[in-house]
Amino acid sequence: MSKLRIAVQKSGRLNEDSMKILKDIGISIDNGKDQLKASARNFPVEVFYLRNGDIPQYLKDGVVDVAIIGENVLIEKGKDIRVAEKLGFSACRVCIAVPKSHNYNTIKDLEGKRIATSYPNTVQDYLDKNGVKSNLHIINGSVEIAPNIGLADAICDIVSSGSTLFKNNLKEVETILKSEAVLAVSPVLSKEKEAILSKIQFRIQSVLKGRQ
Ligand code: PRP
Ligand code: MG
Repeated sequence: MSKLRIAVQKSGRLNEDSMKILKDIGISIDNGKDQLKASARNFPVEVFYLRNGDIPQYLKDGVVDVAIIGENVLIEKGKDIRVAEKLGFSACRVCIAVPKSHNYNTIKDLEGKRIATSYPNTVQDYLDKNGVKSNLHIINGSVEIAPNIGLADAICDIVSSGSTLFKNNLKEVETILKSEAVLAVSPVLSKEKEAILSKIQFRIQSVLKGRQ
C-alpha cells in the first residue's frame, strides 16, 4: 500500500505546531528531527522534514503529496498549489517596514528605493499594482538588519509579534497580506493517496473544531 508523503518544516516556527497537529490527529511519529524522514507507526503516512522554501517545488514535482506550510510561502513560490485546509496556527503577515525615523506617507515614498526581502515575488507584485519601481535585494534571513547596515532603505518580511521590527528600530508601513499555516496539496496526487488525504482532512477538521 502506498503511503502519503507529508512535508513539514524541518526547523523553525512552524515545526512544533505542525508536529502537534499530526499528533493530535493520531499520527504518531517515532523519531525526532535527527532523520529527514520518518514513518508513522499507525497510519500509511511518511513525514519529510524539509526547508520551508523548498516545499512548493517538491509539491509541484509530486515528490511530496501534501505539506504543512505557511500560506505566505505558497503565495511567493507556489501560486498554483491547492490549499485543502487552513490550520489556524502560525498567523503572520507580510509587511513592508522602514526605519522609525523615516517620514513615510505613502507607498510612492518607496520609488527608487532599495528594499531587502526574502519575498521578492510578493513585494514586486505589490509594487507593480501600486505603480512603484524599487530595487529589490534578495536575502534569505535576518532581513531586518539591512537598513541598519546600509544595505537597504526598507524591508519586506513576515511579522508575527512585531518584536524583530521593534528591536531593529523599524516600523510597519504597508501590510501586503495575512497568512497562517495551511495544508497544501500536490497537483499530481494519485486516487489512492486522495483517499488517505480525505481521512486525514476529516481528522484535522475534528481537531480544529475541538480547539475553537
Ligand atoms: C522570522 C521573520 C521575521 C520574524 C518575525 O525570522 O523572518 O524576521 O521571524 O517574527 P516576530 O514579528 O515575532 O519578531 P526568523 O526568526 O524565523 O529568522 P530568519 O529571518 O533569520 O529566518
Ligand atoms: Mg527573520
